[in-house]
Amino acid sequence: MEKKFARTLVTTALPYANGPVHIGHLAGVYVPADIYVRYLRLKGEEVLHIGGSDEHGVPVTIRAKKEGCTPQDVVDRYHGIIKQAFADFGISFDIYSRTTSATHRQHASDFFRKLYDEGKFVKQESEQFYDEEAKQFLSDRNIVGECPRCHADGAYGDQCEKCGSTLSPDELINPKNALTGNALVKRPTSHWYLPLNDYQGWLEKWILEEHKEWRSNVYGQCKSWLDAGLRPRAVTRDLEWGIPVPVEGAEGKVLYVWFDAPIGYISNTKELLPNDWEKWWKDESTRLIHFIGKDNIVFHCIVFPAMLKAEGSYILPDNVPSNEFLNLEGDKISTSRNWAVWLHEYLVDFPGKQDVLRYVLTANAPETKDNDFTWKDFQARNNSELVAIYGNFVNRALQLTKKYFNGVVPEAGELTDYDRETLNEFAGVKEEVEKLLNNFKFRDAQKEAMNLARIGNKYLADTEPWKLAKTDMPRVQTILNIALQLVANLGIAFEPFLPFSSKKLREMLNLNSFEWSNLGRIDHLAAGHTLGEAQLLFEKIEDDAINAQIERLERIKKENEVNSFTPAPVAPTVAFDDFMKLDIRVGKVLECEKVPKADKLLKFKIDDGMGGRTIVSGIAKYYKPEDLVGKEVCFIANFEPRKLKGVESQGMILSAENADGSLVVIGPQGEVKPGCKVG
Ligand code: MF3
Ligand code: ZN
Repeated sequence: MEKKFARTLVTTALPYANGPVHIGHLAGVYVPADIYVRYLRLKGEEVLHIGGSDEHGVPVTIRAKKEGCTPQDVVDRYHGIIKQAFADFGISFDIYSRTTSATHRQHASDFFRKLYDEGKFVKQESEQFYDEEAKQFLSDRNIVGECPRCHADGAYGDQCEKCGSTLSPDELINPKNALTGNALVKRPTSHWYLPLNDYQGWLEKWILEEHKEWRSNVYGQCKSWLDAGLRPRAVTRDLEWGIPVPVEGAEGKVLYVWFDAPIGYISNTKELLPNDWEKWWKDESTRLIHFIGKDNIVFHCIVFPAMLKAEGSYILPDNVPSNEFLNLEGDKISTSRNWAVWLHEYLVDFPGKQDVLRYVLTANAPETKDNDFTWKDFQARNNSELVAIYGNFVNRALQLTKKYFNGVVPEAGELTDYDRETLNEFAGVKEEVEKLLNNFKFRDAQKEAMNLARIGNKYLADTEPWKLAKTDMPRVQTILNIALQLVANLGIAFEPFLPFSSKKLREMLNLNSFEWSNLGRIDHLAAGHTLGEAQLLFEKIEDDAINAQIERLERIKKENEVNSFTPAPVAPTVAFDDFMKLDIRVGKVLECEKVPKADKLLKFKIDDGMGGRTIVSGIAKYYKPEDLVGKEVCFIANFEPRKLKGVESQGMILSAENADGSLVVIGPQGEVKPGCKVG
C-alpha cells in the first residue's frame, strides 16, 4: 500500500532544555533524521525538518530551585547551548524553536480549548499530595520517601533509583517534599483527562493492522500497550511552570508537558511558515515522520495520535522510526551521573571532527537493539575506515592527478573489462542506498557508501597507475579519469551522512553542487576540468587523545562510586574480652621500601619502642615509600607472623578502605610515643 506523497515533514523529539545534549541524543534521533532530510533535499524533494526545545516540565523547575534562578533562566541557557550544539554538528533544521515561544503558547492553548469545548476531555477529581506550608500540590518527582521495595531512603514518587522500581507516590513510606522535607497531606484536586480508552479500537486498527511496516521495536511496544488496555490520561497538572489551562476556574493549573510538547511540532511549523503551515499538517499528501528515542514511543504512537484524532483536522504520522539506546563504554548514559560525551565538550577536544562522530554514531546506530559507544571503536573507525579507506582513496586520486596532469581531469581512452566491472559496481549503488534510506536503515546505507570507497581503493591498488606512468601514459589518463568520477560519486553518496567532508570534497573537485540523481554516473567531471586545492579529508587520531577521554571517564566513574557510597553492614557483635585480645600499638616508620617483584607490597621498618620490627603491607598502589617515612601508624602487634613474598611480616598496619577502594593508613592525631597501646 505504497502511497504517493507530495512532501515530507520530519520532526525530531524536542529535547528537554534542562541540560546539554550528548552523543545518545545525536545517535538516537538527530543524526538519522538529518541523514534522512539531507537525502530528500538532495533528491530535490519538498521536505521540512522541524525541531525545538521542550521547555516545560518539572525537571526544569527542580533545576531552577537548586540553582536559585527562575525556570525561564534555566531554559534560556540550555536552549542556547543545545541549539548551538546541533548547529555545530550540521543538524539541518528548517526551524529550531522552543515551547516557551508566543506562537506555541497560543497554539497549544487553542488546541486544548478546542478539545475542551468539544467535550473531548473528562474531568476527574482525585486525592493528591499537598504541601500546606508551600501551599502547592507536588509532582511525583518532587516527592521523596522510603522505597516500599528496597527500603532505601530518597526514592522518588515515580521511581526508586536504588532498585529501579517504578513507583507511585502513594506507595512511598513517609512521603515528603523533596526540596523542603515538609510532611505532606492529601487534598482533592480536579484534572482533565484524555480518555485514551475511547481510542483503543481505532488505535488498534491504525497501528496493528495498517502500520505493520513500522520497526519491530516500535510496533511491539505499541502492541503491548494496547494489549494491556488504555486508560484515561491526565493532560493537566497543578504547577506554576507551564502553559496555563485556558479554562475559567483552572487557576494554578497548567497543561501537562507531554500534552504541550508534541503540539510544538505544529507551532514551530507555524512559526516558520505563518501563511503556509497548514498544507504541512492538514493535507493528506504530506507524509509525517517522527524521529524519536525508545522512551518516547508511547507518546508519539498512541497519545499524540489520539490527541490529533480528537482534534480532527490534522494528519497522522506515517512512520515513527525510533531507535533503542546508545550506551557509553558499557554503561547507560546518565546526565545526573555525568556519564556522557557532551557534544559541546567533544568539539573542544576534537575540533572540526563533527563528521567523525557522525560516522561512528551511524556505524553503531542502535537501530534494532541497544548499542555501545567506546572510544577505542571511535579511534579504530576513524583510523581504519575514514582515513585508511575513504580518505586514502580520495587523496591518492587527487594527488596523482596533480602529479601527472597538473590537477586537470585527463581524458579517458578505451575502457578495459576491469574498468567496466568497477564502474558497474557503482552503477547499482544508488538504488541500493535509496532502498535502505527509504526503510530508515541508516547503518547499512552508510556501509554501502563506504563500500564504494573500498572499491575505489581497490581499483587504484590493482591498476597501479604510479607504475604505468613510466610506460603507458594513455592508460594512466583513463585510470585517473575513472578514479576521479568515483571520487565525485563518493561525495554524493556521503553527503547525507558526512556533510562537512562532502563539502570539502566538492571544493577539492571544484564542483558547485552534488545532486543525488547523478549518483552512479561516470561523467561528473569533464576532461579538461581543473580541480581545486587538495586537502586531507580525515586525519589519524592518536592514542593520546583517546586515552585522555578514557581517563576522563575513569575519573567520573570513581567520583560516582564515592558519591553513591553506602557503608558495609556492621559485623556481628564481639565481646569486650575478644576485642582486648588484639594488641594494637602506635609505631613510627623508620624505613619503607617496595618489595621486589610484588607490585602491591611495601616493606616497613617500624620503631615499636621495643627494638623495632618488620611489617609488610599491601598498600604500594596508594603510597610512595618515601612519603610514609617519619609517619606514625597503628599496627596490630600480636598478629601471627606471616611470610609475604619471602619477607616475614611481624604484624599488620591498620588502614581504612575508602569509598573508591583505595587504602588510607591510620595513625594517631597527636604525638604518641612508639610502643603505646591503642584501645
Ligand atoms: N522532551 C522529551 C524527551 O526528551 C521529548 C519530547 S518530544 C515531544 O524525552 F514530542 F513531546 F516534543
Ligand atoms: Zn527501591
